[in-house]
Amino acid sequence: MDKNRYLIDFNTEHLENEYYDVVIIGSGIAGVYTALEIPEEYKVAILTKETIDISNSVLAQGGIAVSLDEEDSPELHFKDTIYAGAGLCNEESVWVLVNEAASNIKCLCQYGVNFDRKSPKELSLTREGAHSKNRIIHAGDTTGKEVCDKLTSVVRTRNNVTIRERTFVLDLLTENGACKGILAYEEDSTKYKLYLTNVVVCATGGFGQIYEYTTNPEVATGDGVCLAYRAGVELMDLEFIQFHPTVLFHPENKSFLISEAVRGEGAILRNIHGDRFMAEYHELEELAPRDVVSRAIFEEMRKYKSTHVYLDITFKSKEYLENRFPNIYKTCLNYGIDMSKDYIPVAPAEHYCMGGIRSDVYGRTNILGFYACGESACNGIHGANRLASNSLLEGLVFGHKIGSEIGNIIKNREKKIHISVDFQSNRKEQIKEPEAIKKEVQRIMTENVGIIRNKEGLHKAKESLDKYYKMLQSVENKNITHFELQNIVLLSKLVIESAMEREESRGAHFRSDYNKTDDINWRRNIIRKRGESIAQSI
Ligand code: SIN
Repeated sequence: MDKNRYLIDFNTEHLENEYYDVVIIGSGIAGVYTALEIPEEYKVAILTKETIDISNSVLAQGGIAVSLDEEDSPELHFKDTIYAGAGLCNEESVWVLVNEAASNIKCLCQYGVNFDRKSPKELSLTREGAHSKNRIIHAGDTTGKEVCDKLTSVVRTRNNVTIRERTFVLDLLTENGACKGILAYEEDSTKYKLYLTNVVVCATGGFGQIYEYTTNPEVATGDGVCLAYRAGVELMDLEFIQFHPTVLFHPENKSFLISEAVRGEGAILRNIHGDRFMAEYHELEELAPRDVVSRAIFEEMRKYKSTHVYLDITFKSKEYLENRFPNIYKTCLNYGIDMSKDYIPVAPAEHYCMGGIRSDVYGRTNILGFYACGESACNGIHGANRLASNSLLEGLVFGHKIGSEIGNIIKNREKKIHISVDFQSNRKEQIKEPEAIKKEVQRIMTENVGIIRNKEGLHKAKESLDKYYKMLQSVENKNITHFELQNIVLLSKLVIESAMEREESRGAHFRSDYNKTDDINWRRNIIRKRGESIAQSI
């Protein structure tokens, strides 16, 4: 067996176990909504490595895209998504996304989510980059928190759902190409445990922590994508990393998002000299697709050797800003920036991973019973660049699809699972200074695999990452810092390899040495782990 198949040495015979019909990994919008969509006759566990209220979804500010206006339609939402995706979207998946958006939003309202309203019967709609219509519903500038708080309070009332916090999932257990359970580490008791199940839903979010600056929380280390990879699940499109154009640039905070909705309400970008510049880069100016705006800012920063640019919304009143963007207004003020009077210093930072676990519209992967949903999944809806505010929507629509499909697989399965694994790799060396390695990897990724890439930089990054990867293969992983470091290094290596293979520029993947889109030779990067059987082709 591959010496790196699992993160730790273990013998299933010596571990406690519990059975669940479904195990969901992750407690963001995709995980919790999927749990709510699974019929209540099934026993479900949600495992989350922190507390249930910590996720990337909670931090989402702008809103959720849905065509509700009478001048809008799923067809126009489809068109905008495909345009932003730079020719790489899977049209079948996008149709599901746009056609099933409204019914899932209705469901959120029934769960008590309070979106801002124009009137008791009508939700307020704003605009974000590359949308041709106003179609972003929102709850002030803390939409993710409002949605997650409500969904979490509903899921806590479900008798069939068990929530296990501070439970880190290390690896997936499979037999003959089918899912049999997972191996977890319970932080409070420092014990390893097996969760036996025929169905695992991976909803662990993205992996922004492979970069120095990201809007993602500390937990976004791509654990789900890595455990999938180690088990032979196919990954896809990893080279496409979205950098959000406007993240606060302040000595004490370089990760706080200044929502695209601020530009949606008219804010303009100015370079370090105070000049507007977006018209030179795209006809949609400040509301061009995100990859275009991030590259334009990067270029202005390069041109004038500045560390940031400015976002200007000083033409709106203090009262308006306090009311429409209360969280952004307050946070900026904490750093001495009054956005009704001052320009906000901003720079791009990592925000979202378009790639992930290759899945179909029902979340199915090539391992029977292993599903993926949300940012950890890749069913092709985002293509090479995600359209703003399609990500919370993705968690809802495909969480619903998985919930509706899962009964079919559970009902034909035996509840008694016996899996026997005795994995002894005898990795004994100690990890020295894991935090320092993590920081160095983040620096290498930021410098060489960021907004603009080239062959030389990618090669340099690959050389360093190969060394770290090799070195970490002989060490003993003992705690969450070690598990996360392994995942950060593995993912960085896979992102670099995918970026090297794509010798063209497309969406968020821009190569200065291949600065054109190659529409003739384009292909998808699908990563298969060698030597694993593929049970189910999707
Ligand atoms: C934002 O508010 O700018 C982020 C929304 C998104 O990432 O879709």
